[in-house]
Amino acid sequence: MTPLKNDRLIRALLRQEVDRTPIWIMRQAGRYLPEYRALRQKAGTFMELVQNPTLACEVTLQPLARYDLDAAILFSDILTIPHAMGLGLEFVAGEGPIFTKPIRHEQDVQNLPIPDPSEELNYVLDAIGLIQNELKGRVPLIGFGGSPWTLACYMVEGSGSKDFSKIRAMRYARPALLEALLDKLIEATVAYLNAQIAAGVNAVMIFDTWGGILSPNDYLHFSLKPMQKIIAQLNLNQNDRRIPCTIFTKNGGQHLSAMASSGADALGIDWMTSLAEAKHKVGDKVALQGNLDPAVLYGNPGTIVQAAQEMLDVYAGAPGHVFNLGHGIYPDVDPEHVAVLVETVHSYVGTRPII
Ligand code: CP3
Repeated sequence: MTPLKNDRLIRALLRQEVDRTPIWIMRQAGRYLPEYRALRQKAGTFMELVQNPTLACEVTLQPLARYDLDAAILFSDILTIPHAMGLGLEFVAGEGPIFTKPIRHEQDVQNLPIPDPSEELNYVLDAIGLIQNELKGRVPLIGFGGSPWTLACYMVEGSGSKDFSKIRAMRYARPALLEALLDKLIEATVAYLNAQIAAGVNAVMIFDTWGGILSPNDYLHFSLKPMQKIIAQLNLNQNDRRIPCTIFTKNGGQHLSAMASSGADALGIDWMTSLAEAKHKVGDKVALQGNLDPAVLYGNPGTIVQAAQEMLDVYAGAPGHVFNLGHGIYPDVDPEHVAVLVETVHSYVGTRPII
């Protein structure tokens, strides 16, 4: 493993001292960049881009060519697992992901295969190898997967949804079947993330976009518990170093104390949560990653600088904060505004609170 020249992200996720707060941006490789749109058009469909390791590597590196970011994130998608399970994934323009063979019957769950990452998901592992060859230790590479609950939401609904009523009905009408589905997704995700670690990612993140639609007790049982089971089975302790694991539940602000005991090193937080309150809640248990409102980037540079500085003042240079947006960057944001944000975070000089 090539030693990292910039290990700020890893250090901050592990709550170690850093010379300045690291920053990366959720969905940093994506449609707001003209060079992404060009390559996406060349590839044809989104999944062709994702499944082509050379192009996936190129897209991963695009934001790093523009901005002095402190991390790269693998260009892929959380839906690669259900795709590899044979659900027939398509991305329809303006409609998001659609499964042509969603989970509809008990049999569909029983028949779901657990993908072998070195077979069906080999393209992801190949992309990781190519990216690390190009990065040469410049910054860490983040690997990722979806939470079992969030994957199940798409697999049962067959697409995105406002209220995910099909899976919420399943939770009450067929709870044992939902558990069986989640168990398969736990097994598949453990194998997938461990394969990403073996292929060389420096950190992992689990995206739980839809955990926040559950009632509090159901969140703990159907969303957090499966993530906990995954974390317990990940090879996060390598001989000489730790692969930090971050979990992000959108709308998970009320669950931060429980999340802090999950075994994760860091929690991603959305912008509806106060960073100061979150910091108070999690204490010295975990680092926090976030949480600028992605809409701030629609503001003028002065507004962006002010909002970023206010956020940085919460930690004021103390360890344990990774700067990020509270969710993915919007596709119609001006790329110049991202440059302003990165520069603001980099030039911030924290004054550590005395007490
Ligand atoms: O952050 C990065 O730069 C890495 C790449 C990444 C993508 N998706 C690329 C992508 C990551 C980390 C994801 C995660 C993901 N995918 C999540 C969890 C995080 C979140 O945003 O809540 C979810 C729920 C998905 C599923 C997904 N993929 C949806 C709902 C959509 C359609 C909506 C949209 O934003 O277009 C996608 C497509 C997708 N994934 C795109 C990108 C760049 C846009 C595809 C395109 O049209 O080019």
